[in-house]
Amino acid sequence: MVFSVATLGLLLLPGFCLGEDFGYDGNHGPSHWGEEYHACIGKHQSPINIEEHNVKNVSLPPLKLFGIDNPSLSFVANNGHTVMLKINESKAAMLSGGPLENDVYVFEQLHFHWGENDYEGSEDLINNHSFPMEMHAVFYKEDYKSINEALNHPDGLAILAYLYEVSPNPNPMYEPIVQVLPEIETVGNEKALREPLLLGRLFVPDTATMQDYFTYNGSLTTPPCLEVAIWIDFKDHQRLSHEQLAAFRDLRTQEGNKLTHNFRPVQPLEDRIVLHNIPREQNTPKNIPRTYHRFDEHSGQRDVKVPFSIIALGVLFAILLFAI
Ligand SMILES: *[C@@H]1O[C@H](CO)[C@@H](O)[C@H](O)[C@H]1NC(C)=O
Ligand SMILES: *[C@@H]1O[C@H](CO)[C@@H](O)[C@H](O)[C@H]1NC(C)=O
Ligand SMILES: *[C@@H]1O[C@H](CO)[C@@H](O)[C@H](O)[C@H]1NC(C)=O
Ligand SMILES: *[C@@H]1O[C@H](CO)[C@@H](O)[C@H](O)[C@H]1NC(C)=O
Ligand SMILES: [Zn+2]
Repeated sequence: MVFSVATLGLLLLPGFCLGEDFGYDGNHGPSHWGEEYHACIGKHQSPINIEEHNVKNVSLPPLKLFGIDNPSLSFVANNGHTVMLKINESKAAMLSGGPLENDVYVFEQLHFHWGENDYEGSEDLINNHSFPMEMHAVFYKEDYKSINEALNHPDGLAILAYLYEVSPNPNPMYEPIVQVLPEIETVGNEKALREPLLLGRLFVPDTATMQDYFTYNGSLTTPPCLEVAIWIDFKDHQRLSHEQLAAFRDLRTQEGNKLTHNFRPVQPLEDRIVLHNIPREQNTPKNIPRTYHRFDEHSGQRDVKVPFSIIALGVLFAILLFAI
């Protein structure tokens, strides 16, 4: 375990030169990860197939992001398994609310998973459907002070997952990242984005759909597969053009091959429950302005339905009053 954690720490450092420790094909492929990394054969692994008819609807307190409004100097690196983006900021972006309740999670890095063509590439599936790409924004629990310490705890990480679909037009939000990909084709290369990244626009592309997500407890989707992540998968899809998606497939692995795909197959759900957060706003009449609920709301509590008989009694009472 100590060794695995140390290994992950190194993987997360951009520019670190990796040995051929895991891959997505053959002897180093996902079906062999468990031989060296025992957590990979655990019972709460990620990714999973989310069956929409098999989720539990809940209304959690609002998910909140802080410190995402300032443009951030960002670096992207090819670590041989993915494109990883980090921010050079003293004041980190933070996440709280939703399934995290009042715990605060600090942004560490984001990275992507993709496939050989536009029909597969996401890690989580929805109703068995695969998407061409998935972005993971990884946050660690502030109480644990560092990502390495957070990896020792079952609630150590919170990961925001974004799914993509193909669209005819390029998505301008992702152009700063796509443009530097040719410069980080080789493993270990790192580049600063030419313009500061607007994390807010990346993390919250649409405030209207932000509270509509699935959440479940799972693992890292790469070795050492530690079961330390609270996953939050947004239902809304982001759009990228075919050319933007294709740019990711030109990156190289440590062996110099094209990194055409880097998604792990889905793992058994076992005894887990997937929650579907239904935004509270949907339960309120349309003309009432959207308000943000406070943190101290009871998590997961459903709205209390007023029995019909009480309403009827109220109406009757009002009529009587009116008659008088
Ligand atoms: C959960 O909510 C969705 C709408 O978002 C609805 O279609 C579905 O029927 C609900 N499921 C249950 C069990 O209430
Ligand atoms: C990150 O920012 C600090 C100051 O905010 C600066 O001193 C440092 O050089 C930056 N790092 C890189 C790699 O540019
Ligand atoms: C997904 O695939 C599994 C196994 O083939 C099947 O049992 C399940 O019904 C499928 N789900 C949907 C929503 O089609
Ligand atoms: C995830 O694990 C925590 C801690 O064990 C638990 O409180 C929470 O209900 C779990 N979440 C889900 C969606 O099962
Ligand atoms: Zn990932």
